[in-house]
Amino acid sequence: MRKSLGAVVPLLACLLVAPPASAAANSLKDAAAASGRVFGAVAQAARLGDADYTKTLDHEFGQLTPENEMKWNVVERVRGKFDFAAADRLVDHAESRGMAVRGSVLVWHSQLPSWVINIDSGPALLTAVREHVDGVAGHFRGRVDYWNVVNEAFTDTGERRNSVFQQRIGDTWVEEAFLAAEAADPVAKLCYNDYYTDGFGPRSDAVYEMVRDFVARGVPIDCVGFQAHFNSDHRVPVDMGKNLRRFADLGVDVHITELDVTGSGEAQANSYAQVVNACLSVERCTVMTVDGVTDKFSWNVDRTPLPIDSDYGRKPAYYAVLDALNAAAPVPR
Ligand code: XIL
Repeated sequence: MRKSLGAVVPLLACLLVAPPASAAANSLKDAAAASGRVFGAVAQAARLGDADYTKTLDHEFGQLTPENEMKWNVVERVRGKFDFAAADRLVDHAESRGMAVRGSVLVWHSQLPSWVINIDSGPALLTAVREHVDGVAGHFRGRVDYWNVVNEAFTDTGERRNSVFQQRIGDTWVEEAFLAAEAADPVAKLCYNDYYTDGFGPRSDAVYEMVRDFVARGVPIDCVGFQAHFNSDHRVPVDMGKNLRRFADLGVDVHITELDVTGSGEAQANSYAQVVNACLSVERCTVMTVDGVTDKFSWNVDRTPLPIDSDYGRKPAYYAVLDALNAAAPVPR
């Protein structure tokens, strides 16, 4: 039965006079969740036994990306012999904590076993790509929320990178990887992921054209990942929000996938805030991920690129991210 207006009006009036104070969240994942977003971290299976590491991982982050454990040279070092031991440990951990999982990465020119590089015909390499994608995405079917299907297919001038896949198969290798991923796991969201695509420029424009073409032709793609690695040579572009928006306007979600900023103090904090605010300015920017749990185990440890320091302390960058997330408006759903 519908409630009578008589009961509803005083309730509304009361809400208007004294809105319930919504307490600011005290973790990155809770702060992001308040606006319907996910805040995650890249993580390492080898560190799961470290109590400080897992405590921070579990408290702060709502999505886990295996750092290296799902890469081709780890999971299929020998053709057809898959080893998912380390990746399974990470996925089990994420599931037991209710975290989302971002798979990284199905097809990438880097961290390849030599047998892949040595395949010298296009059709044979395409078969290997399909079998690899089927083996990996099939193994994790239903357990991976987002797959980085392909990483870094373009150069900084917007050409196709001269990878083994490009050389042997030609331009179609990227869509072939997406088609194979869709067949192996029809539920996971499929993403293209690249670096230095955060603002406008030749590489970002080339990715944009590829995604536009995929969407137009019905090649299955759900999201675009922006790695968001920043340093003194590559600062956060002022047009990052605008760039994210043009991709979102193609009808895909946009994700920040490996965020890190070298440096320290307020300068680092300001860059982090700029990235988070760029994402928050776009409704379809639904996932943000930092490139590690703590500076201690960052591959770039000397440049202290993460929001949490080597003693698991919260840096100014941490508070800049937390405050920006807590100030976000909810995403309309
Ligand atoms: C990096 C890892 O973090 C390192 O541990 C490894 O030695 C090299 O690869 N872009 C990506 C990531 O998509 O997978 C890469 O990760 C960094 C560049």
